[in-house]
This record gives sequence, C-alpha cells and structure tokens, in this order.
Amino acid sequence: MQVLGINGSPRHKGNSQYLMSLFMEEMKAKGNDTQVLDAVKLNINPCIGCGNCETKGVCIFKDDFTDIFLPAVIKADIIVLSSPIYFYAFPAALKALIDRIQVLWSRKYRLKMDEFKDRKRKGVLFAVGATKGKDLFDGLKLTARYFFDAADIQYKTELCYRGVDKKGGMENHPTLHEDIRNLARKL
Ligand SMILES: Cc1cc2nc3c(=O)[nH]c(=O)nc-3n(C[C@H](O)[C@H](O)[C@H](O)COP(=O)(O)O)c2cc1C
Repeated sequence: MQVLGINGSPRHKGNSQYLMSLFMEEMKAKGNDTQVLDAVKLNINPCIGCGNCETKGVCIFKDDFTDIFLPAVIKADIIVLSSPIYFYAFPAALKALIDRIQVLWSRKYRLKMDEFKDRKRKGVLFAVGATKGKDLFDGLKLTARYFFDAADIQYKTELCYRGVDKKGGMENHPTLHEDIRNLARKL
C-alpha cells in the first residue's frame, strides 16, 4: 500500500513530526511504500474561490499543489495528517493545502465523478496541543473529516495528545509506542 504522511508543523523535528516518523517506521516495516510531505515546504497559492474547479474539475493554479500534493493524495491508500493545534485550527500552510482540495470536492459533489471507485482509502489524524481542554481537538477533527470526505477517504481514527508543548515533549510519552503499533496493526 501507498502511505502518504502530511506534516502540518513548521517546527523542524517537533512533536507532530515525531509522531509521523514513528508511524511511518512502523508502516515501512510492514512492507508499505511511504512518502512524507511537509506542508511548509510546498509552494502554493491559497484557494481564491474562483469556482473553476466546480465547472471544469481542475484548478486555475499550477504550483506544488497541482504538481506534488494532489498527485500524492490521489495515489495514496492511507493518508495521515500530523499536526499541532494553532489557535484551535490547523497551521496556515496545511490549511491552505486542505482548502485547495476543493478541486476533489467539486469533482465528487458537483461533477459527480467517481474517480476513487473500487478503492478503499483510509485516513488518520495525529494531533498535539499544549493545553488540556476537552474541546482542544474539535476544530482539527472536523476539518480532517471533511478533507478526507472530499478526497473519498474513510476517516478511521485519530491519536490526539494534550499538554504537549516543548520540542521532544512526546518522546517519553507512556503509551505512544503502543498506540502507534496498535494503529498500524488495525490499518
Ligand atoms: C502559533 C501557535 C499557536 C498555538 N495555538 C495553540 C492552541 O490554540 N492551543 C494549544 O493547546 N496549543 C497551541 N500551540 C502550542 C502547540 O500546539 C504545541 O507547542 C505543539 O506541541 C507543537 O507541536 P509541533 O512540535 O509539532 O510543532 C500553539 C503554538 C503556536 C506556535
């Protein structure tokens, strides 16, 4: 299977990148092909809501979204979003990529294309945040749900960790390795 990881954090070797690296090691060990894209390294235009995709099924922009991100999303069997909470939302670079997925939403819901027919694609969310509130991850979960839906991906589950702030904050987490192993087994 082709496993695509999308890192939302701009922080190099931060907490969400650490989660992603553990998960990808596990998936590689199971014989899957893996690819990780860092949202901040992709050079993209934000969606301008022009509506071109709603009638033509393609975006007016040609950039790293059309050349790198979209082909990787289409090819993947499993997609993992791994991100910190920024003001109860995804960081801007990742949110800009998610907004551009409007092109897949348009193909599915406006143009009634069934481009992922016969493919059972799965999605997972990893998230970290510094505080501990009950609703901390609600924004990310909702956005992830509709991102996965637009791309015809079944949103399987999420691993969310509260009270994690400093770099390295996940490294001694008591259940993390087991959480990741269990998840990789289930997928
Ligand atoms: C711009 C910015 C906004 C943040 N907003 C929140 C927030 O709303 N709630 C929260 O609990 N943590 C917030 N944080 C803390 C990060 O989510 C936390 O430090 C996380 O562990 C960083 O993960 P990373 O190492 O993968 O970047 C924010 C951090 C930054 C830099």
